[in-house]
Formats: sequence, C-alpha cells, structure tokens
Amino acid sequence: MICVLETKFLVISCILCSVLLGFTNAVPTSTYNVVKFGAKADGKTDSTEPFIKAWQSACGNLSPATIYVPKGRYLLRNTNFRGPCKRKVTFLIDGTLVAPEDYRALGNSGFWILFNHVENLVVSGGKLDGKGAAFWNCRRSGKSCPAGARSMTFNWVNNLVVSGITSVNSQVSHLVINTCNNVVVKNVRLIAPDQSPNTDGIHVERSTGVTISGCTLQTGDDCISIGDATYNLFISNIKCGPGHGVSIGSLGQKVDEKGVENVTLTNAIFSGSDNGVRIKTWARPSNGFVRNVLFQNIVMDKVENPIIIDQNYCPNNQGCPYQTSGIKISEITYLNINGSSATPEAVTFDCSPSNPCRGIKFQDINLTYKNIAATSSCKNIEGTSSGTLVPERLCKGQFNLTPPSFCCHLHLLWSLFVASFFNQTIFVFHNWAAITGSSNAPSDATSQPAHTTKAFHPSQPKQENGK
Ligand SMILES: *[C@@H]1O[C@H](CO)[C@@H](O)[C@H](O)[C@H]1NC(C)=O
Ligand SMILES: *[C@@H]1O[C@H](CO)[C@@H](O)[C@H](O)[C@H]1NC(C)=O
Ligand SMILES: *[C@@H]1O[C@H](CO)[C@@H](O)[C@H](O)[C@H]1NC(C)=O
Ligand SMILES: *[C@@H]1O[C@H](CO)[C@@H](O)[C@H](O)[C@H]1NC(C)=O
Repeated sequence: MICVLETKFLVISCILCSVLLGFTNAVPTSTYNVVKFGAKADGKTDSTEPFIKAWQSACGNLSPATIYVPKGRYLLRNTNFRGPCKRKVTFLIDGTLVAPEDYRALGNSGFWILFNHVENLVVSGGKLDGKGAAFWNCRRSGKSCPAGARSMTFNWVNNLVVSGITSVNSQVSHLVINTCNNVVVKNVRLIAPDQSPNTDGIHVERSTGVTISGCTLQTGDDCISIGDATYNLFISNIKCGPGHGVSIGSLGQKVDEKGVENVTLTNAIFSGSDNGVRIKTWARPSNGFVRNVLFQNIVMDKVENPIIIDQNYCPNNQGCPYQTSGIKISEITYLNINGSSATPEAVTFDCSPSNPCRGIKFQDINLTYKNIAATSSCKNIEGTSSGTLVPERLCKGQFNLTPPSFCCHLHLLWSLFVASFFNQTIFVFHNWAAITGSSNAPSDATSQPAHTTKAFHPSQPKQENGK
C-alpha cells in the first residue's frame, strides 16, 4: 500500500515537474537593460562600454535574449556588436542612440554601429542620430576629413529583421546590409537633408534574399543603392525623395564582379528626386551583369530622370580606356509607371555600345513634362513595348541594334588602336627611364594613390561604391 502511494506520488511529482519545466521553458527571453550595465540616458556620458557589456551578456545567453534600451539619449562611439551568439538576440530600442558631436571621434573605421557575424538578429524601434552636419561641412570645405561613418552596418548577418527604426543625419549611408542572407527591413525612416553628400538610405551588397518594405527615404544620395553580388531583392511600398532615387550600381568598376539578379521594386512613390529607377555602370571592362529586374506600379512626381540606364559613368574621364561598359544588362521590365518628369527627357537609355541592353520591356508608361508628353532617348537597346506609352514613341525604332552596333565596333577598334599606341609609348618611356636611370619615372610605390580618407575597418567586407 505504501509502496503504491509512493509510486503515485512519484508519478504526480514527475508530472508536476515536467509541467513546471515546460513553464520555465516558455518563460520568454532574458532581458538585459543597458541602464543596468551603467548606460546613462543623458546624451553626454559615453555609454559604449555598457552597451557592449549588455550585448555580450545577451549574445552569450543560452536562451534567446533581449537587449533593452529605455527612453532617453545614449552617446555611443564606434560600437561593434560581434557574434556569433548562442541564440537569437533582439535589440529593442525605445531611446535614441547619439553619435559624438565631434565626427573625428569616430575615426576612419567607416562605421558607427556595427553588427558582425550574427545569426538570428532583430533590431527594432528607436532612433539613430548620426550628427552628420559637421562632417558634411568638412567634406564641402574641401579640407581633409575622415572617411565618415555609416550609421548602422550589418556584415555577415543571417536571418535579420530591422524594423521601425528612424535614422537622421547619418555622416554617410544610414543602413548598410553587406554579405547577409535572409533579411527583412521594414517600416524604417531614413532622413538627411537634400544634397548632404553620400548619405545613401539603404545600401545592399553581396546579399541574398533581402526584403525592404514600408520605408520612407529622404536622403542626399541614393534612397536605396544596390551593389554587386545582390540576388533576390524585393522592395515594396517605399517613398523616396529628395535624393538620388533607387539605383542598381554603380557596378563594373572592377573587372571581376558577380552581378545583380532578381530585383523587384513594386509600389513606390518618387518625389522631387534626381532619379526614379536607375541602373548605373562604369564605362570599364567588367564581366558583371544585371538581369531579371522588374520595376512596377510606380508614381513619379517631378523626378529629373524617372527611368534611366547610364552605362557611361566615368568621373573625371579617368580609368575608362575604351569608354564602354562590360556589364551585360538584360530582362529589365518597366510596368505601370506614371507621373511627371522635372526635365523634358523622362526616359534615358545610354547602354553600352559593346554590350547593349537586351530584353527591355515597357508596358503602360505615362510620363509627362509640364503636362505634355515627355521625351525619350534610347541608345544600344533591344526590347519590346506594349500598352499605353507616353512618351509615345518610347524607344520605338531604336530597339533595332544593327546600325549603332556597327558604328560601335569601328569605335571600339579605334579605341583599341589608340590605347595600344599609348601602351607602346609608355613602354618606350619606361625603358628609356630605366636606361638613363632617370628618377622622373614614378616608382611603383609613389604611383599608388596616397592613403586616402576612404580607409575602412579591416573587418568590413568589400566597401560599397561611393555613389
Ligand atoms: C533568380 O530567380 C530565378 C527564378 O525564380 C531562380 O531560378 C534563380 O535561382 C534566382 N537567382 C539567384 C541567383 O538566386
Ligand atoms: C497610372 O495611370 C493609369 C490610368 O490612369 C491607372 O490605371 C494606373 O493605376 C496608374 N498607375 C499608378 C502606379 O498609379
Ligand atoms: C497620361 O497622364 C496625363 C496626366 O495625368 C493624362 O492627362 C493623360 O490622359 C494620360 N495619357 C494616357 C494615354 O493615359
Ligand atoms: C595596355 O597595357 C596593360 C598593362 O600592361 C594591358 O593590361 C592592356 O591590355 C594593354 N592594352 C592594350 C590595348 O594593349
């Protein structure tokens, strides 16, 4: 009898035990409040170390953990949140993170807040104040300035959600997604004055499976810029302007590039921006490409270049030996795009003479300039059009590549001839210098560009293009 009772008791306690255990397992995440680690909400006390300590605790926690930033202003210097972490980490911000008043305090690392090598990360809410104005003034004055810091950068972060953040006055880009997979960016507001230099909104590069939605982007540079090795990028419901619009590129500065594939932009409003949807490549040899892109359901409001492909980017005409881009652009669809251009020419295709744009499709485009049909200019493109088309003759008659192609071949041959002539001349000159022992010829060391201000942290993957 006693024995039986004991067994019953054991069974019951075991059940109780597992219920309790189950309950503790269901207890949400551990929360690490940065204030408990010594962060001060006064906007003046350096809170970098407390934030890093809170991160280390959350990151090393054996169950999912949350770092919590209460209301108030927290001064942070360069802050590097490093993984790998044990479990999912949520960074929940109710307050404002503030960069140092003196931009020189962020040095040349190129970043302000950096997340590195993390799997399963959520960054939610709050505000970032990059204090960029003094840095922009330095840039404008032509003085020597540091590299400038991107406000929030994610390097090698997979399964990432960034939501509800407002970022103002970043020194350079607001938000950088670099070498990440499976990313959602939603409901963020990124704001910097029109004409503030290089203040891109979101820069995506070397990343696969990024979704950007419900974002307001008012910046001095590109609202969204898309760099090399970006695949399966889906952007929807964005408002862009002022700024330089959504740009795939600049691509093709290097010969070896991995291309951009599967980009969709749907439901967007561009107002007062320099560009709407742009693809931009250097006029340099490259084996990169842009293919399978859809731009659809877009309203343009006084946009300078609503639709543009520019394959002739070559600032100061330097380093573009044949003045033609190797980037192959194909399967680009423009569907249901309406509104007004701020210039008479609303559609500009300046495609590469050596690699014309192929598979360009237009359907239902209505772009006006001062209430009359805008115009278009189309070089080296092949494609089709259907539906409503204003400009009415949108690239019609210019979809046929034969004549420009032929001219370009001649042009290319001539450039090659000129280039090899100069190569010979330089070669002779070098030999001459060697023979005479002349010290006028630049040595290998001095012919390298001086250490520029574009020095980035060694832990950065490839740096994004400037524009
Ligand atoms: C691009 O999309 C196509 C069709 O969905 C898919 O087959 C292809 O794998 C994608 N490309 C990349 C690089 O993921
Ligand atoms: C463009 O205008 C057409 C005709 O007025 C309309 O049906 C379509 O919804 C408009 N598209 C957008 C993106 O507003
Ligand atoms: C194009 O848009 C203008 C301005 O909204 C409108 O007046 C015009 O009727 C549209 N044209 C076509 C062909 O839909
Ligand atoms: C010029 O010289 C460079 C470096 O030696 C070489 O890579 C390039 O192919 C040459 N160009 C021509 C047109 O001969």
